[in-house]
Amino acid sequence: MFSTGLLALVAILPAFVNAQSPIFGQCGGIGWSGATTCASGSTCTFSNAYYSQCLPSSNGGGGGTTTTPVGTTTKPSGTTTVTTPVTSQTPAAGNPFTGHNIFLTPFYAAEVAAAAANITDATTKAKALSVANIPTFTWFDTVSKVPSLGTYLASASAQGKSSGTPSLVQIIVYDLPDRDCAAAASNGEFSIADNGQANYFNYIDQIVAQIKPFPDVRVVAIIEPDSLANLVTNLSVQKCANAQTTYLACVTYAMQQLSTLSNVFSYLDAGHAGWLGWPANLSPAAQLFTSLYKSAGSPSTVRGLATNVANYNALVAASPDPITQGNNNYDEALYIAALAPLLTSSGFPAHFIVDQGRSGVQNIRQAWGDWCNVKGAGFGTRPTLNTGISAVDAIVWAKPGGECDGTSNSSAARFDFHCALSDADQPAPEAGTWFQEFFTTLVTKANPPL
Ligand code: GLC
Repeated sequence: MFSTGLLALVAILPAFVNAQSPIFGQCGGIGWSGATTCASGSTCTFSNAYYSQCLPSSNGGGGGTTTTPVGTTTKPSGTTTVTTPVTSQTPAAGNPFTGHNIFLTPFYAAEVAAAAANITDATTKAKALSVANIPTFTWFDTVSKVPSLGTYLASASAQGKSSGTPSLVQIIVYDLPDRDCAAAASNGEFSIADNGQANYFNYIDQIVAQIKPFPDVRVVAIIEPDSLANLVTNLSVQKCANAQTTYLACVTYAMQQLSTLSNVFSYLDAGHAGWLGWPANLSPAAQLFTSLYKSAGSPSTVRGLATNVANYNALVAASPDPITQGNNNYDEALYIAALAPLLTSSGFPAHFIVDQGRSGVQNIRQAWGDWCNVKGAGFGTRPTLNTGISAVDAIVWAKPGGECDGTSNSSAARFDFHCALSDADQPAPEAGTWFQEFFTTLVTKANPPL
């Protein structure tokens, strides 16, 4: 509940915000109705068509940084060139996305094509089809899917050779034993009690074996969504407490084995602003990431952290969603800005990628913890290296939009109550399977529009 004092503050806030944007605040972009001038000492700097930001004008003799927009070009050949930053700011060294074409996963393209075939409205159908040209990550959520990785890499390698620009394949490593320990919707195939750790090591070995023949293809891997965040905040859940040592051993093994391949760059999953971004969770999170990374031998191919995977937060929210009340880190940029110094000081590489695939529409949830098939969600900012934030290597689409977060069928074994909340789109099929109605909404509500 809002206190009256807070309401009074909220009432005076817009007037203040409209006057001038603070340093690092938004100052322009399509759909932006706030201030377009910046606090003294900063300059409104173009980041992308949807976002200009007040950046400190320290090195520009008053002019600040200037950036030039570059359009995303798509190629029918199966790769897409993601916008590269053309800016006077130096792009972060070692950004693994630089200079590569991102491979378009044929699996998602087929899902999208099948979905579009079921859409009758011509305009919506055309928009839906265009989604197949936007790169998403491929989730290896069962060991049986791993052989398809080699097939993708072979195609990516061939595309790289014919285009002269090397390809980059985006994968999600997601098969921990006792997976999704604090929820039910994405419980996986392996159980700790039934040889889960050995099965997982074998799963990782198979991924490594698939990648090894293709040193010419770059691979970006997100390691185990939700797993480490659960170890930070959910050890009171018995399943998570039981899984703790196994998760740590498995994630360490994944980091180490993938690091035997110099063409693989890994980002550990770091939850999102509404999870590890709460002030009390930042330090424990940074400590966990750092200690795990160091105990794995500080592998040079671990690049940083992935945030907002399969979630709905904005990278930069125009204003705080009321559900974020109490946490000043109300969007991913604020979360990252708060976490990065803790990582840097403890010796973990503070580079990030941020999922914006389903973050196009904000203020649609009743509670920040609502994560399942949120009603009214739209596709978000397109993947780009032009992130406007030096710690953020890329905006990505990690969750393939249209694949379900979890079933709303309360009698299903993997039913999670979040998927039957009033802000969850229903009826919803099993996690990972296609959710046509949800996809159509993502298409029609896409922001920027498709
Ligand atoms: C969910 C599902 C998983 C799927 C992923 C991406 O986590 O449990 O099977 O691969 O979403 O859609």
